[in-house]
Amino acid sequence: MQVDLLAGTAYRSAGLALRTPTILVFDSGLGGLTVLSRTMQAHAGAHVVYAADDAGFPYGRLRENDLVARVLSVMERLVARFHPDLVVIACNTASTLVLPALRARFAIPFVGTVPAIKPAAAATRSGLISVLATPGTVARDYTRGLIESYAGGCEVTLVGSTRLAGLAEAALKGDPVDDDAILAEIGPCFVARAGTRTDVVTLSCTHYPLLLERLKRLAPWPVDWIDPAPAIARRVTQLLGAPAPQTGSGSSEALAVFTGGVGLTGPLRIALAGYGLAQVVIEPMPLAS
Ligand code: DGL
Repeated sequence: MQVDLLAGTAYRSAGLALRTPTILVFDSGLGGLTVLSRTMQAHAGAHVVYAADDAGFPYGRLRENDLVARVLSVMERLVARFHPDLVVIACNTASTLVLPALRARFAIPFVGTVPAIKPAAAATRSGLISVLATPGTVARDYTRGLIESYAGGCEVTLVGSTRLAGLAEAALKGDPVDDDAILAEIGPCFVARAGTRTDVVTLSCTHYPLLLERLKRLAPWPVDWIDPAPAIARRVTQLLGAPAPQTGSGSSEALAVFTGGVGLTGPLRIALAGYGLAQVVIEPMPLAS
């Protein structure tokens, strides 16, 4: 099926002068919407495609070799179809593993989303920080490397949540999600000992900021919740350049692509439209069993 991307905005950067770039924002599911919003705010005139590999969701349960193969094959299809100028991997579970393989395979820039351990270490006053992520992300060598490089003076608690990404998707679809279920997932992030306690939690799965207001409300005590989305949007601007100011605010509509589409209910379509994703297509790519 041919899909027309919406009219866009000329860019100033040398490589993209007078051309509207296409930005592909990719996640296993709906979590990348938190990154999409910031990216669309910063690049309102760009062509934006949001790709959800929902047929592969959740990535947090996949073996590392399987995840690398899956992301490479889905990306082959998406790059051939949309010819992006830049791809945002709005998924920590994929970024902490697959970025080297993606950069070796494709000659386009990839912006990854990885646990914000350096900013967390800079922000903490108590020295106790927690990384809330999928089981895949907390198990990665890459994540351990970030801790060794940037959080040497901190005590870092890694919390691998099996359910929170799914709960965030359910909440976005308008399904009931119990406070207790959320609290059970975030509880281990809160460590209190010897008169001090955790004061920073880095949201190292892009799904989790979808629940931010509830996380704040349910937290046993107030902490700084670090959402990496603004930093990702800044990195996109560094690489693409800023949109030319004379072209105005441009479009804030984008195209959504799903690899499965099974969960595309009416309420989800309404939620997607709220993110500027009124146009939704399915690019079927079943997960090999
Ligand atoms: N949104 C993804 C991330 O940032 C993970 C969700 C999943 O397990 O697929 O890690």
